[in-house]
This record gives sequence, structure tokens and C-alpha cells, in this order.
Amino acid sequence: MRQLIRGRTLSFHADPVEVENAFTYHEDGAVLVEDGKIVATGDYATLRADGLPEIDHRPNLILPGFIDTHIHFPQVQVVASWGAQLLDWLNTYTFPEEARFSQQGHAPAMAEKFLDLLVHHGTTTAVAFCSVHPQSAEALFSAAEARNMAMIAGKVMMDRNAPEAVLDTPQQGYDDSKALIEKWHGRGRQRYAITPRFAITSTPQQMEMAGQLAREHPDCHIQTHLSENLDEIAFTLSLYPQARDYLDIYETYGLLGDKILLGHSIHLEEREIARMAETGSHPVFCPTSNLFLGSGLFDEGGLRARGIRAGIATDIGGGTSYSMLQTMNEGYKILQLRGQKLHPFAAFHWATRGNALVLGMEDRIGTLAAGTDADLVVLNSRATPAMTLRMERATTLAEELFILQIMGDDRAIAQTYVAGKPML
Ligand code: GUN
Ligand code: ZN
Repeated sequence: MRQLIRGRTLSFHADPVEVENAFTYHEDGAVLVEDGKIVATGDYATLRADGLPEIDHRPNLILPGFIDTHIHFPQVQVVASWGAQLLDWLNTYTFPEEARFSQQGHAPAMAEKFLDLLVHHGTTTAVAFCSVHPQSAEALFSAAEARNMAMIAGKVMMDRNAPEAVLDTPQQGYDDSKALIEKWHGRGRQRYAITPRFAITSTPQQMEMAGQLAREHPDCHIQTHLSENLDEIAFTLSLYPQARDYLDIYETYGLLGDKILLGHSIHLEEREIARMAETGSHPVFCPTSNLFLGSGLFDEGGLRARGIRAGIATDIGGGTSYSMLQTMNEGYKILQLRGQKLHPFAAFHWATRGNALVLGMEDRIGTLAAGTDADLVVLNSRATPAMTLRMERATTLAEELFILQIMGDDRAIAQTYVAGKPML
């Protein structure tokens, strides 16, 4: 069925940090949708037709749905756990919680809640770590498929330095990942991410198996963690004494390239930055998590200057909000401490087309371009009394976007469309 979704449309076709005219904005715009795809985006007056059903979102903004490039599905009940930095936080709160995902019925129930939370926050695609149990990935893919929602996910591979209940073995991790890839990768909108949790929880034998999966499935993404916390880095290097640095471990097992997403990537050596640039590997900035766990300040400007394209993400449950708006708010503040600026155009580009570029999926998601999937978020800049009052002084689109970036959260999400279907 064809329908017209009317509002103020905003979509980026280039990176506003790099070029002047990076976006298209229609004050009285509309998105023409059919069979889950965008047929056209433009002026309402041009796209309207007699008998064509319309949904009117004016005066709200219509953007491509947000993309979250690093989030932990089994940590929905870990968010807001007090008082620890990374390694203690994992041992005290996170591993015990992830162990619950072996229980019958737990993963399917949490998967529904998780996807509900994503769409309530305007996120239409996420790159998700599941627990070690293959049924956690199975549950997430099944629930996402039922909503026709594009998920990229994988069961974590981890075979040491964690409780028995969340460990696999090199062979089991390989076999379970392989079976999930064969069942889910490329089925509808689902894609698999090969997911060695991080070097601390994988033996060299398991890293070798992860590398083998990556060679056998070069079109799968790979997700892991890199240089988030100083104690983590020291422990990692003690476990891999031959490695030149942390990134070298992942390189040794053949994991670097434009498919890999390296969560955090805060405390980097010069050699690591150079190799990241040469291999096209992607760091992922997780602002609320990096502040909450006291991990450090990501150097977006420094990495960009080296030609590295970073993703931006919530990292629930080290992160503290599902909202990409709140993520951009905290991202702005971290870059302030670095002496860098996150302009609202750059921020909204990052959470949409920028993250799609990082995933190599900009032909499918992240813009309002014709032929792409109709994943949309509808934003209300006057969602709260404080926002309404502040909006009285806003005179430009950039100001309005910045108010959303700093003051917005799930209350500012008026509607979320997944493949053309309203989800709220
Ligand atoms: N490093 C390894 N596992 C995790 C995790 O679950 N969260 C964060 N923030 N860092 C990690
Ligand atoms: Zn993480």
C-alpha cells in the first residue's frame, strides 16, 4: 500500500563536517512509502495525489530512524549499576546478569522489551551483542524478524576470565556462531556480527576460531571492544605478551578491516591509530558509557583527522540511555572537554547516515533517499515544557536540532516507522 507521511523532512546526503550543503530539508515535506520502501521524499505539494492516504506529522520533523552501532541486549537489567569501573562492573553486575539468558523463556521475553525500548527511543537498527548462549541471539533475531526490523547481532564468544555459566569453548563458540550465521545472516533484514567479546575473555584458540569465521563469512560484521579502560589494557597485554599493542591482537587473528566495529577505542597508541586508518577499521564512540564507567574521553577529531570514520552508540548497559539524542548530548560534552565541537548537523548526520556509512549500509538505511528502507523517526522539538519554552527563542533549524540533541529523549519521539509501519 502506498502512503504519504507528511512533516518537515530532513535527510543528509553528505557529511556536514566535510561539505557545506550536506542535507536536504523540506519545510512542508513528505515521504512517499510503499511496501516498506521509500518511493520518494520531497515537497508535499509535489508528492500529494488524490486518493493517496496521508499521515500528517506537522509541525514535527521526519528523519531517517536512528542507528545504534554498539549495544548489549542482555544488559537491559544491568543499566544503572552503581560504583564500578569496567572490569569490576563486568564481574559484579554484568556476567551474573548475562548468565540468566540460559534460562528458558528469559531471552525471548527480554528481546521483546529490548525492541520496544529501541523503537520508543527512535532507534530502528542496532548492532547488538547477545549473551554467550545461542538462544539469546536466536530470540533477538526472531523478535526483530517479526517486526521486520534490521538487526545486526551475534552471540558473544568468550571462553575464559568469566564465570562458567557465561563461557563457551573455542569449538562450541565456532559451531554456535556458524549455525546462527547459516540460519540468520541475510534472512530478511537480519545480519550476523561475529562477536568475540574482547581479548580478555577469549583464549588465542578462540580468537583463531573467530578469525576463521571472519574468513569464511567476509560479509558478516565483526564486533568487539578495544582500549576502553587502562586496567583492561594492562590485563589484556599481560594475556597476549607477544602483541605489540591491543589492536595487534585483533590484527593477528585477521579481524581488522571495514567490517569491524571496535567499541570505545579511547586510549590508543600511535601505531594503533595508523593501523586502524590503513585497514579501514571503525572505532565506536559510546559517550554515556565512557562517562558512567569513568573510562575516558574519545578523540573524535583526532581520529577523523587521520581519515578514520567512527560510529556513535549507546552501549547499554554500560551506557545509561537508550536515546541517541541523549547519546549526542553526552557526546557533545565529551568533545567539549577535548576542545572539539559537535555541531547539531554533524550529530544528526552521525546518528543516521554516518552510522550507516560505518556499517556499509547507506544504500539501505540512514537517509530518506528513494529506494531505501522506510525506517523513520518523527521528532517533536516541543516535547516538554522546558523544550517548548526554549523553542520560543529558536530561529534556525540548527538551533532546533541542538535543542533536541541536548534536551531531547524518548519524550521527543512522536513516532517511529520500521519498514513503513508505525511502531508506537
Ligand atoms: N568490554 C567487554 N565487555 C564489555 C561490556 O559488556 N560492556 C563494556 N562497556 N565494555 C566491555
Ligand atoms: Zn560494549
